[in-house]
Amino acid sequence: MKVLVIGGGGREHALAWKLAQSERVQTVYIAPGNGGTARDPALHNVALTDPLALADFAAAEKVALTVVGPEGPLAAGIVDLFRERGLRIFGPTKAAAQLESSKGYAKAFMQRHGIPTARHATFADAAAAHAHVDREGAPIVIKADGLAAGKGVVVATTLAEAHAAIDDMLGANALGVQHNAEGARVVIEEFMAGEEASFIVMCDGRHVVALATSQDHKRIGDGDTGPNTGGMGAYSPAPVVTPNVHAKAMHEIVLPTIAGMAKDGVPFTGFLYAGLMIDAQGQPRTVEFNCRLGDPEAEVILMRLKSDLFEVLLHATGGTLDQVELQWDRRTALGVVMAAQGYPGTPRKGDAIGGLPAASGELIVFHAATALADDRLVTSGGRVLCVTALGDSPRQAQQRALGAVQQIRFDGAQWRNDIGHRAIKH
Ligand code: AMP
Ligand code: GLY
Repeated sequence: MKVLVIGGGGREHALAWKLAQSERVQTVYIAPGNGGTARDPALHNVALTDPLALADFAAAEKVALTVVGPEGPLAAGIVDLFRERGLRIFGPTKAAAQLESSKGYAKAFMQRHGIPTARHATFADAAAAHAHVDREGAPIVIKADGLAAGKGVVVATTLAEAHAAIDDMLGANALGVQHNAEGARVVIEEFMAGEEASFIVMCDGRHVVALATSQDHKRIGDGDTGPNTGGMGAYSPAPVVTPNVHAKAMHEIVLPTIAGMAKDGVPFTGFLYAGLMIDAQGQPRTVEFNCRLGDPEAEVILMRLKSDLFEVLLHATGGTLDQVELQWDRRTALGVVMAAQGYPGTPRKGDAIGGLPAASGELIVFHAATALADDRLVTSGGRVLCVTALGDSPRQAQQRALGAVQQIRFDGAQWRNDIGHRAIKH
């Protein structure tokens, strides 16, 4: 069988790596892939990103199954396109992907179906947004209503920060938010206190299978300081998701979401990622939905997955996920992201990468923004590598990952030394 992974980051490298281990998979294509996947003899980079060209490729090569990594192609309707052509693909339709691509849609959906989340209001008019913030006070959360790679959110601790965020998102747009077609809008939310976790499930439209839990680290700096990023590291499992929290997340958030989407006539297929905020009483609320695997959550989750991912995806695209029981490695997987100089602002590109360790059963370096320049590996974007290790404890996994990080060299590399700190302290 041939499979196709769409995307070129660390998440897609991990998906391709895992699919290549299936006995039934003979060829793994990754489009466009990156420098690391180009060098991996088990994977084949395909230099395509256009959905129509990808569908032509999948048809011509008789690809048995396609899985989509990032939100961009999903929001553009790649799943609808493949299905119209009779091609098997795992992901949500364009309509279902609005759960992620429009925060306004997601909030209205949650309100309509009674799914716990922060109170919110949506504004296109700056004056009305400013007045709302003055009434509500700080802390308060300002979000752009569009895709922003995790960067279009400002958790304002003061009113001044909140007003500045509104001006930026509805005006100058220095954060580079990609607004929806209806134009610039902001969602203003109640601040929720608690600890976050990533709760990701697979859906076939009717049935749901939960993946292992994980926790991301969104801030650039140690101790969760500095600006938000796409994620600087993750680990799995996340102890904050106790069996009790897990049950609540399934019964109060995930299952009502899947049922609500079906009821709204937009059945959800694909990975559904609920970002949870868990308060001191163990009550989870939804921070956001993503309609895909997280990155770097995918790297740590897939490193622990023992089941054959290809078989699981066949069930997920055939409506038989109820027949699947996933098997997990009991150890902790922990991934440390190495980012380029300048990230999460404009990253510098083209720095030579050296000192990469050989992969082992306990350590893998997933590539994200890397490219080959005359056979040399160089940086090509913000999050460059995700150095992922297994360990008997979070501390051991962290030590293993950091041991490798310290051997890897590229100019301007930034990483966090405290990934997993909440589990290590526990
Ligand atoms: P989002 O892109 O919606 O996941 O937001 C990015 C990050 O901002 C989240 O991971 C949280 O850390 C934080 N955040 C978003 N919304 C809220 C909220 N209502 N209360 C507290 N923190 C939030
Ligand atoms: N790591 C967070 C995300 O993928 O959205």
